[in-house]
Amino acid sequence: MAGRRPLSTCWTLFLSLVILLGCFIIPGVSVKHENFKKCSQSGFCKRNRAYADDVSAKGASWSSPYELDSSSIQFKDGQLQGTILKSISAEEKVKLPLVVSFLESGVARVVIDEEKRINGDIELRHNSRARKERYNESEKWVIVGGLELSKSATVESETEAGVTKVLYGPENAYQAVIRHAPFDVEFKRDGQTHVQLNNKGYLNMEHWRPKVDAPEGDDEQKPEQEDEGTWWEETFGGNTDSKPRGPESVGLDITFPGYNHVFGIPEHADSMSLRETRGGSGNHDEPYRLYNADVFEYELNSPMTLYGAIPLMQAHRAGSTVGVFWLNAAETWIDIVKTTSTANPLSLGVGSKMDTQSHWFSEAGQIDLFVFLGPTPQEISKKYGELTGYTQLPQHFAIAYHQCRWNYITDEDVKDVDRNFDKYQIPYDVIWLDLEYLDDRKYFVWDPLTFPNPIGMEEQLDDTERKLVVLIDPHIKNKEKYAISEELQSKNLATLNKDGEIYEGWCWPGSSHWVDCFNPEARKWWKSLFKYEKFKGTLSNVFIWNDMNEPSVFNGPETTMPKDNLHHGNWEHRDIHNVNGITLVNATYDGLLERKKGELRRPFILTRSYYAGAQRMSAMWTGDNQATWEHLAMSLPMVLNNGISGFPFAGADVGGFFHNPSKDLLTRWYQTGIWYPFFRAHAHIDTRRREPYLISEPHRSIIAQAIRLRYQLLPAWYTAFHEASVNGTPIVRPQFYAHPSDEAGFAIDDQLYLGSTGILTKPVVSEGTTTAEIYIADDEKYYDYFDYTVYQGGGKRHTVPAPLEKVPILMQGGHVIPRKDRPRRSSGLMKWDPYTLVVVLDKNSEADGTLYVDDGETFDYERGAYIHRRFHYQDSALSSEDIGTQGPKTADYQKAMANVRVERVVVVDPPKEWQEKTIVTVIEDGAKIASTASIEYYDQQGGKAPYAVVKNPNVSIGKNWRIEF
Ligand code: NOJ
Repeated sequence: MAGRRPLSTCWTLFLSLVILLGCFIIPGVSVKHENFKKCSQSGFCKRNRAYADDVSAKGASWSSPYELDSSSIQFKDGQLQGTILKSISAEEKVKLPLVVSFLESGVARVVIDEEKRINGDIELRHNSRARKERYNESEKWVIVGGLELSKSATVESETEAGVTKVLYGPENAYQAVIRHAPFDVEFKRDGQTHVQLNNKGYLNMEHWRPKVDAPEGDDEQKPEQEDEGTWWEETFGGNTDSKPRGPESVGLDITFPGYNHVFGIPEHADSMSLRETRGGSGNHDEPYRLYNADVFEYELNSPMTLYGAIPLMQAHRAGSTVGVFWLNAAETWIDIVKTTSTANPLSLGVGSKMDTQSHWFSEAGQIDLFVFLGPTPQEISKKYGELTGYTQLPQHFAIAYHQCRWNYITDEDVKDVDRNFDKYQIPYDVIWLDLEYLDDRKYFVWDPLTFPNPIGMEEQLDDTERKLVVLIDPHIKNKEKYAISEELQSKNLATLNKDGEIYEGWCWPGSSHWVDCFNPEARKWWKSLFKYEKFKGTLSNVFIWNDMNEPSVFNGPETTMPKDNLHHGNWEHRDIHNVNGITLVNATYDGLLERKKGELRRPFILTRSYYAGAQRMSAMWTGDNQATWEHLAMSLPMVLNNGISGFPFAGADVGGFFHNPSKDLLTRWYQTGIWYPFFRAHAHIDTRRREPYLISEPHRSIIAQAIRLRYQLLPAWYTAFHEASVNGTPIVRPQFYAHPSDEAGFAIDDQLYLGSTGILTKPVVSEGTTTAEIYIADDEKYYDYFDYTVYQGGGKRHTVPAPLEKVPILMQGGHVIPRKDRPRRSSGLMKWDPYTLVVVLDKNSEADGTLYVDDGETFDYERGAYIHRRFHYQDSALSSEDIGTQGPKTADYQKAMANVRVERVVVVDPPKEWQEKTIVTVIEDGAKIASTASIEYYDQQGGKAPYAVVKNPNVSIGKNWRIEF
């Protein structure tokens, strides 16, 4: 037999080869399209698109049937009220109450409802107990302020007949031109039209009508009759929606004349600059859809719906940003079409010759639209945040690195991972437990065999200031002797089906019920479950992950709940679907606030499903992505888009959820993930373990370096979070946001700025790439973060070396960047560490920066317990000035921080004369005499800027001081 292998050996070899190859080949996975509706399969989407097509086809021969009854118009206290009449026939007109509110903030709000439904003057089919009104409570979940009516808004007296003009906004420089017949509205700023409603004539309020059964065989006699095929019932994927109120959708066209780019309306796996949706090369042929859903193996470059929805769209052109917010919680689709501008002859320049027309339609509810006239992206962030709330300032640990996988399998496993991070000197702050920590998938109950000692585990984590996050989903296992399930049922706190019985569906635990957080009693109960005495085995370092809250229902239509399910108050699920997820987060948030009397800590919650307003309570991530380079690349526009849409605490699963990343991909993903405001590694249960310390060298060290870089910059990150929490600004910012007048940068969504620090990075997101082509907009000097190589020249791309071990980062001249350079095991352990300030000089030898610090844990900052400084370099001196507002807790906090000092100041690109300098003068407020500190100048060759280092100036971070060079 010599020379021949036995058959079994051959087989073993063959199989090994197959397995080995299998490790490198990622199976081609993609979404099951048949599980999710296309527009043509959704009755109201099809109807509204057809309506638009019909209107366009008829052209000038067509006139919108909506007319504002001139005699109904009243204007009082910043609010215009009237009735729009929809002509059904010469005799029949449907009354649609209109309210246009002009808010003190300069935002306008347009609400259109339907009188018959408001009065309950309609008949429901199938003996349904659903509510008759159009849903008008989204506001309750979403809006937290900014609704004060303008005191100065007035109706312009000299107007043509059939037009009402309202002056409003700052110095009454805005104008709403409301044309009565047909009804349309133009919003003007400084005499120019920026937003138009119904100028295309797509306004469509599907009024209530009774179902009239046509006599059999009658069809031919009524050729003009509308197609009622989707009015009264709709079936998809074997599920039939009973639609007790018949057709009730609302639709409206919103045009941005002269605007070439529109951004926003997350969540979609697509470019940040939204594409056209009516076909054509590079365009979509489906509208962008907003219908929160658990889309398994979602596809990229797609307008398909995903887990969350924020119906905020902003239109941008050089020098102007405007926006609209469509407050409607029902399923919504948005078509986008761009045309050459005829309406706006003032719009000049190659990139701005376009009008962008958007067409919005929702299945139910009112038209409730907020119009923002900018004129800057920052103004949109601010005003939208005033309405829906700003990002909650998170606990400090939450902005550090999170280690997750499905699943750490025992408490010993968790402790072991914890020890390994320390052994390999890789910092992390939070470890996560997915589903499998539970006993039989019963939320709030630990598996007694695998997690016998959760408290011991949490105590070990606490030794290094680390935290634990555990998963709590909204579906409750339908099981006897499970107290939570029994209470949910006996107290009637669950969502009901259309017949008013408790709704049962399938999710992780098998047969389940869903807590109905629209019910105040359910919220009260849910809140109570987080108390330490109730959720046994949790300490104060435990936080919550709300997953599957779209809600995901494995056997439901489109993997969610039937639309005719009923919630508290008899609202149909159809009415509230997109806010459903945040009602759970809201209750969880309150629960975390009330775990123990007197213990007030900022909650941390991660949510998968979201709507406008979620930013006040939670962080989000982009759900179940895949370990591919394409998914890595897509994470950037997705995170950036969330940021400009008011929900910046966003991230994507580092490493990719499904499948096993190659070592290079994992490394590049960490180097990208350090720029997500929410930075968490996560992996599916079927993947191989990939904690960074398990990866072989050199990748392990490269990943560790990347994580340390995040930790080094945490002071800058926390400052950016603070800015988001008071101004709504994105934490990481796209090019257009940082350079709103540079047209060439508007579509760039693969590089980002960190807060206001001037740090610009373009992570490497493609295989084998070793350079980054970073686009620079302005004429400032930009310096390589690590070696100060200079890049200068606006309006073009610069090649920055980016071998595997290097994250390509530039610093824009003109900034002071706060850092903490001492590596530690967790961010909690860095609390008292000294600061390094990097002063990057601009063309005029000046620089500016801010730092915000507080205890990172409590709400004491609301009472002044924080440090907020402005650093300014000018005329050869760096100064620190207080920009905070004093509160009752300021003095104590300042005292506690007195010993936290600046240990190093690095000045990038100082004047040559500094070569001679050996000391600088340091003047700290309150110090009797000025002191000195040593300075060293480092000359550099080969395109690298010189730099100087002041060693230990020893000034307190919270005090006023000045360093004279
Ligand atoms: C779905 C989530 O998207 C994923 O991150 C999680 O691991 C699984 N649910 C299991 O809980």
